[in-house]
Amino acid sequence: MNHIITIDGPAGSGKSTVSRMLAKRIGYSYLDTGAMYRAVALVAKRKSVDFRDGEGLGRVCRSLDLQFDREEDPPRLLLCGEDISELIRSPELDMLSSKVSAVGEVRQAMTDLQRKMAKGGRFVAEGRDMGTVVFPEANWKFYLTASIEVRAERRYKEVLARGEAAQKDVVKADLKKRDDNDRMRPLSPLRPAEDALTIDSTALTAEAVVEVILNYLKT
Ligand code: DC
Repeated sequence: MNHIITIDGPAGSGKSTVSRMLAKRIGYSYLDTGAMYRAVALVAKRKSVDFRDGEGLGRVCRSLDLQFDREEDPPRLLLCGEDISELIRSPELDMLSSKVSAVGEVRQAMTDLQRKMAKGGRFVAEGRDMGTVVFPEANWKFYLTASIEVRAERRYKEVLARGEAAQKDVVKADLKKRDDNDRMRPLSPLRPAEDALTIDSTALTAEAVVEVILNYLKT
């Protein structure tokens, strides 16, 4: 018996909101692995490392001092003590994180780090390969989906809520491109684990999805 719940799915499927709410309801910690790939992309950009340079990106990963501050809600991500939680949520880092996440050296380093962070704890782990690669032994696995229209609408509202300008059709095109990158890459592509329960959140609120998951956990 382990204490890991995995939630995978494409961008805008509601994973982050659902994972955070679920973790709070059941007293688990929340592991946002997308934020970790975003941090790698941020450091690579700052150090001008080419996004196809596996060795250079491997070095970036090895030098990464990354910590989640879980005293805050939502948890903050600290890079050498610098709070980068907001910085990593830009359209540019959406794309750059998807690019670095296709590189083998980065995936290996992040997989190791994610397992280390979760060791011995109770975690809701959210990402693209939580159920398939990082925590294949997890007792409960979920895969969230939603129509591209609804996912784009959610993402568009998030961007506006951050006070940034956005065009709905650009948000939708970027989302689709990132999905394609994440699904088509050879290493740890986005897909449901064979033993995952797929939940279509197109017509469901985050609260309703959490209820579906809680009911499933009781079975
Ligand atoms: O969940 P997110 O949108 O913050 O993730 C950003 C990118 O990181 C996503 O496009 C693909 C990559 N990612 C990944 O490859 N594996 C994960 N477990 C989480 C994210």
